[in-house]
Amino acid sequence: MWFDGEIKGTGLGLRTAFIEDIHDYDLKPEWFEIAPENWIKKGGYLRKLFEDIRKDFPVVCHGLSLSVGSPDPVNKYFLKELKDFLDYYEISIYSEHLSFSSLYGSYIYDLFPLPFTRELAEDMSQKISFIQDFLGREISLENASSYVELSGDMEETDFIGYIIEKTGCKLLLDVNNVYVNSCNHRFDPYLYIEKIKPEWVSYIHIAGHKKIKEDLILDTHGSEISQSVYQLLIFTLKKIGKKPVLLERDNNIPPYRELLNEYDYLREVVKNAV
Ligand SMILES: [Fe+2]
Repeated sequence: MWFDGEIKGTGLGLRTAFIEDIHDYDLKPEWFEIAPENWIKKGGYLRKLFEDIRKDFPVVCHGLSLSVGSPDPVNKYFLKELKDFLDYYEISIYSEHLSFSSLYGSYIYDLFPLPFTRELAEDMSQKISFIQDFLGREISLENASSYVELSGDMEETDFIGYIIEKTGCKLLLDVNNVYVNSCNHRFDPYLYIEKIKPEWVSYIHIAGHKKIKEDLILDTHGSEISQSVYQLLIFTLKKIGKKPVLLERDNNIPPYRELLNEYDYLREVVKNAV
């Protein structure tokens, strides 16, 4: 009933702004990513449109509210809803963020950075193992963008590696986030990528950002991808090999025809990079 096949090549974040337009164009994204929180309770016409997409394309889920870095226990009610959704639509890839978005049971509608400490890596590993057992599938975690650095006793790449070793989860590598953080926190993004092991990475995110000043870039997902980020993506793909790449565009979404032009450009870059 649903499309049976793995993600490969270049995908696009699915948004209701253009979901009706997808079947109208010959050029079609190779796969889509959705936020399950936006779809679990959605019914009616939009649900039917989503199901039409799921019948024709591979789909992955990218969550926003699991808050794996929070000291709060994992929300089992949400996890059950999520598992039912993933199982029903036969979606095997579910990703989340290396961040936290809830504290003492209250949700903050943003992704907050983590202190990269051994203690937190250990605590998060236990939570991630529980989540993977509950969902019956390995999850992927995304390196988040940030505007402040919290003190810790590990580098981010060591923190990621520790959690992957402990739990068998994967990394959703957001190349734009690496670039944004490298400017905000003054490090070499190429050295960061050098430390990423190819086998860690399930897939890659890429998006546009907004440069405010030399050492402040906002991760807006609201403009075209910069050439500096494209260069880092090409370097990444050469270093870690072929991986699926997803174009994220969440804000200031252009007409679908224009978005397809950017998607097409990215698809060519990805094809020619390796
Ligand atoms: Fe991302």
